[in-house]
Amino acid sequence: MKILIIGSGGREHAIAWKLAQSEKIEKIYAVPGNGGTAAEQKCENVSFEEGQNSLVQFARQEKIDLTVVGPEDPLAAGIVDRFREAGLAIIGPDQRAARLEASKVYSKAFMKKYGVRTAESRNFSDSAEALDYAEKYFDNAAASPLVVKADGLAAGKGVVIAENFAEAETALTAFMKDRSLGSAGASVVLEDFLVGKEVSVLAAVSIVPGKKGCIRPFVSARDHKRRFEGGRGPNTGGMGAIAPAPDFTPKAQEDFIKSILEPTLRGIEAENMDYRGFIFFGLMVHQNRCSLLEYNVRLGDPETQAVLPLMDFDLGELCLSILDGDLDSFPLKWKTGAVCAPVAVAGGYPGSYRKNDSITVNEKEFAKIGAQLFIAGAQQGTGGELRTSGGRVLAVSAWGGNADEAWTKAYKAMNLISFEGMAYRKDIGRENNE
Ligand code: AMP
Ligand code: GLY
Repeated sequence: MKILIIGSGGREHAIAWKLAQSEKIEKIYAVPGNGGTAAEQKCENVSFEEGQNSLVQFARQEKIDLTVVGPEDPLAAGIVDRFREAGLAIIGPDQRAARLEASKVYSKAFMKKYGVRTAESRNFSDSAEALDYAEKYFDNAAASPLVVKADGLAAGKGVVIAENFAEAETALTAFMKDRSLGSAGASVVLEDFLVGKEVSVLAAVSIVPGKKGCIRPFVSARDHKRRFEGGRGPNTGGMGAIAPAPDFTPKAQEDFIKSILEPTLRGIEAENMDYRGFIFFGLMVHQNRCSLLEYNVRLGDPETQAVLPLMDFDLGELCLSILDGDLDSFPLKWKTGAVCAPVAVAGGYPGSYRKNDSITVNEKEFAKIGAQLFIAGAQQGTGGELRTSGGRVLAVSAWGGNADEAWTKAYKAMNLISFEGMAYRKDIGRENNE
């Protein structure tokens, strides 16, 4: 099979790495890919005038058997619909289903309509009404924080946890009046604050209109979004992940299936969406009770870098079963143990950061550890060397018999990598430190 992967992050490198292990797959094109996919076996980076028509044209010309989409933007723009219209096999939700991520107003309405457990919330498209609601909310002296969410895609910048009215006012003014996020902030969701521990559950979805659908969850994971150790500092795109999430108990998993996964499946079926891809449930778990914070209509980054190394099956075969509608009988087998995947970032990130620094890896010692290096924001330089190009530069992904072992191995491997300004959190997978 020939595969096309769309995207340029660490998630896409991990997908390419896993697919390359499949005997059935002889060639993988990454568009545009990164310095990691450039060096991955069977893999070649391709860049051309972006746009969905050129992607369709490329897939036709190269006789691509299967396309996998990493990030949300092309999904929200309807890439799956374009490929399917052209008779090309692609993994992802159709444009209508992609609204589960692309519009928070829509996804909250969906959750409420189908009884998916989530925080109480109200939607606003009028800034005066939103401000009025926030003011009254904080009039109650015992009020907990209010979560202000921009409706549209905002690359992680669309959620503000307001501790008081002044903070809510600042966020609402920026989103709705000043349009700091463009049209993404024209409407907002104002949501009650939930306490608990966050868990990410990625899952395979195969739901075709008129047929009985299926969602199969993967092992759980936890992202660490804050920049600094102990869960402090500004939000980032993710400073590392572990899988499984150690405190996601069997009881909580049962609750997740009943209160979140099953009603979601019923809702997607009832709405007649064509959803053959991956879904990500962002959960808040408190005393074994799960609430849904958000859907993403794709695999998570950096969760993918921690979850894929635990897959004891062929990802290419899984993709085919999603498309063929026999996902329900696919043997999803997981390795025991745990994976720890800390992310190394460029100096200055998440503010403005250094670029074009050369990355060195002590390959010989690294190979002895048996960890995976997943490249995100780095490109191959003219001499084949890796040079930083993004804020989140790379992840090291290490398996261990338990979380402690995985942690030790991951940081041993991380110590063998260096670039000017390199920074990382040392507590990925440790307690109370999201
Ligand atoms: P979202 O994009 O909706 O997942 O929100 C981004 C982050 O904001 C989440 O990962 C949580 O850390 C936080 N968050 C979102 N909604 C809530 C909520 N209702 N209560 C507490 N934290 C939240
Ligand atoms: N790790 C969260 C995300 O992929 O959006």
